[in-house]
Amino acid sequence: MAAAKIILIAALIAFMAASHGLAADPGPLQDYCVADYNSTVFVNGYACKDRGLVTADDFFFSGLDKRASTANRLGSNITIVDATKIPGVNSLGVSMSRIDYAPYGLNPPHAHPRSSEILHVVEGELYAGFVSANTEDGSNLLFAKKLRKGDVFVFPRGLIHFQFNCGGSRAVAFAAFDSQKPGLVTIANAMFGAHPAVDDEVLVKAFQLNEATVDWLQKQNWLDVST
Ligand SMILES: *[C@@H]1O[C@H](CO)[C@@H](O)[C@H](O)[C@H]1NC(C)=O
Ligand SMILES: *[C@@H]1O[C@H](CO)[C@@H](O)[C@H](O)[C@H]1NC(C)=O
Repeated sequence: MAAAKIILIAALIAFMAASHGLAADPGPLQDYCVADYNSTVFVNGYACKDRGLVTADDFFFSGLDKRASTANRLGSNITIVDATKIPGVNSLGVSMSRIDYAPYGLNPPHAHPRSSEILHVVEGELYAGFVSANTEDGSNLLFAKKLRKGDVFVFPRGLIHFQFNCGGSRAVAFAAFDSQKPGLVTIANAMFGAHPAVDDEVLVKAFQLNEATVDWLQKQNWLDVST
């Protein structure tokens, strides 16, 4: 009996530790905390709007049926619907996006520091994948697949991933996140488009490039295709 109790307590502690470790955004402590975009209080997320002023529209967004313009260098456009677009999403730990791809358009290698992502292809064909963190032997594993309409692919939190439209026609996908604001680090932009610029010597050594190439890369327009 005592042994059973100890096992039960140990299991409970392990479960609590695991569920805490796996959570992305912290769990809400109330039914909702609709963002008050006017508040100047600095908190993790947004301060809550007066409950008496909350309406259905606070939990609503419209427009994800619309194709965003992909007439840019990358041939893609990401419409993010997060806590900055739906105030009711504040503190709930979810968000989503629509991604449009021109033929051969690319959602360039990037990572979300606060969220995993599950992607659903609704139109076209994508070559999508992510790269593992450094393994024990110092290599990085690529997990990539060709996706078609109806296919779903998962990108683990924090790992670098991408989608490329490998079909000849346009493509559309929707993504869901376990964070109200997943964050976006576009790898090339972060390294070659930082302000102020990362020192040449750092980039020359890190990427095994010569200085002229680094200078050229730093002069490029590192586009952010998310809105
Ligand atoms: C924020 O300020 C605007 C303009 O004063 C007002 O219309 C709006 O209702 C305010 N929002 C909240 C959540 O208080
Ligand atoms: C993304 O689409 C929106 C809506 O069509 C457009 O206003 C914006 O300029 C586009 N962004 C890029 C980088 O093409």
